Amino acid sequence: MPYVRKLIGSKTYLSPVIHEDAALLYRWHSNLETVFLAQGPGLRSSGTAQEFKDFIDSFHKKVWPMFMIVDLASDEPIGWCALWNIKAARSQAEVAILIGEPDRRGQGRGSDALRLLLDHGFNLRNLNRVELETAVHNTSAIRCYEKVGFKHIGTRRQAYIHGQKKTDSVLMDLLAEEFDSPFVIPMIGGAQSGTE
Ligand SMILES: CC(C)(COP(=O)(O)OP(=O)(O)OC[C@H]1O[C@@H](n2cnc3c(N)ncnc32)[C@H](O)[C@@H]1OP(=O)(O)O)[C@@H](O)C(=O)NCCC(=O)NCCS
Repeated sequence: MPYVRKLIGSKTYLSPVIHEDAALLYRWHSNLETVFLAQGPGLRSSGTAQEFKDFIDSFHKKVWPMFMIVDLASDEPIGWCALWNIKAARSQAEVAILIGEPDRRGQGRGSDALRLLLDHGFNLRNLNRVELETAVHNTSAIRCYEKVGFKHIGTRRQAYIHGQKKTDSVLMDLLAEEFDSPFVIPMIGGAQSGTE
């Protein structure tokens, strides 16, 4: 099934994740180096194909936005991203992002897709604050988050443990007022009317 250009950036676009995308998530999350960086599904679990179907279902059931990241130039799916743990009463959520194809990393696609995801969160879901946590050794992710505007707000000591190795994590957040919309606000016509 072709991907749809729901939110369009300069290098990527976001298309809603559907059940058929589970096969790609299964493949990407079977790369232990990738999921070690992401601390994501498939790291501790066996990571079966069914697990990723259930994973997608769990986001849809909670109405947590989950998108495939598609390369704008080639229309190839390269990763996925989502807002999860949405706390509506506090207008907050957490970010998850993964570029599953390692050779597509480090060329600006992750930050481009992340801006689109945040645009969805801040300007369509009316979130006010988005946060994330990543391992201190995940320096490319930290650099990506800094480029998008995330601020360092602290660390969690020995947040992860693998064998005898304990690793601290970095906590970061971004507020709606600190974010410039790349797509949604320009698309709906610049300044908001304030009628709703
Ligand atoms: C994190 C991730 C989504 C970022 O996507 P990306 O396409 O690599 O991001 P970008 O290219 O926009 O930004 C990465 C930046 O880190 C830099 N970088 C790459 N390798 C680096 C390294 N080893 N150390 C420091 N910076 C590094 C890149 O040069 C780039 O910065 P620049 O634009 O100033 O040159 C992607 O790397 C990824 O999927 N990693 C594996 C899964 C993961 O860690 N997910 C996040 C879990 S919290």
